[in-house]
Amino acid sequence: MNDRFAHDGPLRGTVQAPPDKSLSHRAALLAAMTDEPVTITGYLDAADTNSTLAAVQALGALVERRDRSLVVRGAGLRGAAPAGVIDVGNAGTLMRLLPGWLAGQEGGSWTLDGDASIRRRPVDRIAEPLGLMGAQIEPREGRFPPFTVTGAPLSGIEYALPVASAQVKSCVLLAGLLAAGSTTVIEPRPSRDHTERMLAAAGASIARDGHRIVIAAQDELEMGALHVPGDPSSAAFHAAAAVLVPGSRIVIEGVGANWTRTGFFRILRRMGGAVAGPLEEPTGGVPAGEPVCELEISHGPLHGTVVEPDEVPLAIDELPLVALLGCFAEGETVVRGAEELRVKETDRIATVVDGLRGLGAEIEATADGFVVQGTGGLRGGTIASHGDHRLAMLGAVAGLASREGVEVDGMEAAAVSYPGFEADLAALGGR
Ligand code: S3P
Repeated sequence: MNDRFAHDGPLRGTVQAPPDKSLSHRAALLAAMTDEPVTITGYLDAADTNSTLAAVQALGALVERRDRSLVVRGAGLRGAAPAGVIDVGNAGTLMRLLPGWLAGQEGGSWTLDGDASIRRRPVDRIAEPLGLMGAQIEPREGRFPPFTVTGAPLSGIEYALPVASAQVKSCVLLAGLLAAGSTTVIEPRPSRDHTERMLAAAGASIARDGHRIVIAAQDELEMGALHVPGDPSSAAFHAAAAVLVPGSRIVIEGVGANWTRTGFFRILRRMGGAVAGPLEEPTGGVPAGEPVCELEISHGPLHGTVVEPDEVPLAIDELPLVALLGCFAEGETVVRGAEELRVKETDRIATVVDGLRGLGAEIEATADGFVVQGTGGLRGGTIASHGDHRLAMLGAVAGLASREGVEVDGMEAAAVSYPGFEADLAALGGR
């Protein structure tokens, strides 16, 4: 599907941020691990999170869709159906978190596979710690899906993450629920902490001390009800469009304000972007909940910045937008320490650099990021999504801000995380 986006006057109005993808995956997985029914409001209805619902159903959970909520009747912490083939679709989070739950279930054996993009994404990063705990994971060529998880009695470990990955951290913490003793994960730098917060809310014994997170074995989880706030990563596209399109002023409601997810908005502010709204400050321990805020964003001039490695995990999915902002900023914008971008839905260093260059950007790839020279704008042209949802939405925003407009080849990919993206953008005035 090819869609064209071009400048059509300022963006104005109020939009509700769509439900958070990361939190929706976790909500469905943790609900499936409980014995009592869990009501989830605000669950994201998108391709990725529907893959997670299908997965938990295949493992024995019952999912009832109501008007404004989902009710999940879980299989229990040790009750997953003992065999199955799970199709994770395009969902890396599902692929990396689910094995953490399955690994400790003795006698079970499950095969996980997904689409062509998933088959290029590494899983040795979870196979290693789960193997150290006692489970068996056999990835294709030692590294990629499809792979089989064979459940076994697990022992707690102390594991220093080689990369700051919330997915790997979450996988080990979920395995820790069923592992004898306690399990410690040490992060090289903070990454999103939704799993920790949700586990704390579900009664798990989990604590953080600096970069160390410790979880103890658990008999059961208790959730009751859960609300999924709006996705800051999805809101970031509207925010970038408002900053770039002259005369714009928009309000985004219901945005998750967890500081481990709002790095992009801090970078945007540092570049001179007018972003009004309270973002959570770093917290010490493990809060048992997710803060929400309302953001007001207006057009204004930007200047270049340097995004340092410590900021990368806090803005990882929004870094393509930082590249776009850099095209319009005065001076140079540099992102470093972001080599993880190479193993996302696409190699996002290559696809962002090639894609924006095709629209007239002066941008160079580096091994671990990119360097953009601000030239005051973008010409426009055609950009391919390569099936990557965030690239499709990047192209749309680039189109609104460009001189000649942008045609996005493969716009349908947006439905992986944000099916209503085009309608929401159009409601704000962006077409
Ligand atoms: C996610 C973590 C990030 C992010 C992904 C979702 C999560 O990946 O890029 O879109 O929900 O935990 P990594 O943890 O592998 O960096």
